[in-house]
Amino acid sequence: MDNRPTWTSRYTFIVTAIGSAVGLGNIWRFPYVMGQNGGAIFLAVYILLISTICFIPLINELYVGKLTKKECIGAYESINPKFKFLGALNPITGIIIASFYFIVGGWIINYISKSCISYQIQDYESYFSELIQTPVYSCVLTLIFLFICIFVVARGIKNGIEKVNKILMPLLALILLFLVIVSLNLPNSEKGLEYMFKPDFSKLNFQMVLAALGQAFFTLSIGMGALLTYGSYIKEDKSLVKSVYTIIISDTAFAILAGIMIFPAVFSFNLEPNSGAGLVFVTLPRIFSQIPCGNIVSLLFFILLFCAAITSGISIIEGPCATLIERCKISRVKACTILFFVIALLAIPATLSFGTLSNIKILDKSIFDFLDFITSNLMLPLNALFLCLISGWYLKIKSHNIISNKFVMFLFDIGLKFVVPIALLCLIIMGLK
Ligand code: PHE
Repeated sequence: MDNRPTWTSRYTFIVTAIGSAVGLGNIWRFPYVMGQNGGAIFLAVYILLISTICFIPLINELYVGKLTKKECIGAYESINPKFKFLGALNPITGIIIASFYFIVGGWIINYISKSCISYQIQDYESYFSELIQTPVYSCVLTLIFLFICIFVVARGIKNGIEKVNKILMPLLALILLFLVIVSLNLPNSEKGLEYMFKPDFSKLNFQMVLAALGQAFFTLSIGMGALLTYGSYIKEDKSLVKSVYTIIISDTAFAILAGIMIFPAVFSFNLEPNSGAGLVFVTLPRIFSQIPCGNIVSLLFFILLFCAAITSGISIIEGPCATLIERCKISRVKACTILFFVIALLAIPATLSFGTLSNIKILDKSIFDFLDFITSNLMLPLNALFLCLISGWYLKIKSHNIISNKFVMFLFDIGLKFVVPIALLCLIIMGLK
């Protein structure tokens, strides 16, 4: 494929990869998973895992893309035609993830407009549950978010994906820093910092370690071919390892800053840090309504969330889009149009599963929860597992000289062949329980 796109520079590649990693996983999911798993001790385990075990599949996925210069199916096929089917699981996972990730994107759009108009809500809990249960409105929101992501991807790598990431990522960092300062200036904010940074070792358990591992994989976008596709657009990057560390460090910094933004505020108002998925949509708006200039702070916060979700949403679509372009030999715009309808077809029932379709259960779960469950607990770790095994045992990546230090390369190889697959298997087994 001669006219495959490539990144304009190493900088744009890194910013775009960070854009993929930093998303709802950091600002919405990380604080509430941390809140449910004991705070500081979870953070310690998370940092340990993300800088060791997660480094391996991340570099592996980018490297396979860079090496083969193909989209997912082609990349697996060029290693061995027998693996084609495993490659196809990646874009399928992407499409399923898109169908529930974009629903949350739709909720964010609602909160942005709400912050612009007024902030007089009687009961935040029922406001949120009403929002997600209103059928037509919530579907329209999901479709708007989907359309924005599709539109950016349809404009291509240079004029769409790179441009948007180059603007939104610095904006994201600026807003986050500003909100951190606001939160730290609230009364009693030190209680939140204590919760985040003073570990309580009695909360350490296996379940929590797995929660940290699952969160780390999700936030780094490992296991659905997004990074493989991004890696395939790299022209030359002699220091892929350095790029990967930049991605990991930035992603972790964003997650920790999101925690520093949220927990001091939560503790300052004597609210519960472990309120789950509603933390961002119920607890925080309640706080915003009680602080000076709450409307503006709220607006900034939801713009922050929106930027994060868009840059990740784009990467979720780019994988399946590249597959359609290269396998079916169609134009980018055509591929994006097809994807819009396919994702909408899945996303609409998932959006309705909070209200109109709430009685439809798959494995005792609503459609939304089921899609989240099979991708986060099964498909993402399974895809990462297959790719580690293929690279370690079949591609014999050991001889590829990705890391110049022989001993580190040896550890990398052991990690790829044994440690990461075992960790992933545990994640899958525990996740399916
Ligand atoms: N990493 C993104 C986040 O943290 C989510 C994502 C998962 C994006 C998988 C792409 C692929 O929100």
